[in-house]
Amino acid sequence: MSNPVVKYLDGYLANLHVLYAKAHNYHWNVEGKQFFTVHAKLEEVYEHIADEIDEVAERILIIGERPSSSLAAYLKLATLKEADAECITGEAAVKSLLSDIEELNASLKTGIKVAQDAGDEVSADMLIGALAHYEKLAWMFRVHLKA
Ligand SMILES: [Fe+2]
Repeated sequence: MSNPVVKYLDGYLANLHVLYAKAHNYHWNVEGKQFFTVHAKLEEVYEHIADEIDEVAERILIIGERPSSSLAAYLKLATLKEADAECITGEAAVKSLLSDIEELNASLKTGIKVAQDAGDEVSADMLIGALAHYEKLAWMFRVHLKA
């Protein structure tokens, strides 16, 4: 995989899979006063990620390479970490996801530059769209965490 854009996209795809699993984990295991809001919001979050996973993987195919396609490969490539199956408060779940999304946003800024430097405006546009989505989600999570 010599194309730096594909290398970035494949790593991003791996992180999306970890985030997809983690959003489900907290959707299922959140307990306490914020249950209804966090449970419902995380369903929205993982549904969006599912669409995005498909878009990113197909972009790699469009470029002419093959995306990583197994959970084992994703876990090897991802920088985000999974969470254990245990009950969690809404606040702790949102804090944990906010930290992941901030990491993802920093990485997306790098990925956008990689794509632009390679003259791959379509991949750059896709990643800019992702950054806009996750910057908004980070803002909503930060607002939710205010006392
Ligand atoms: Fe559900």
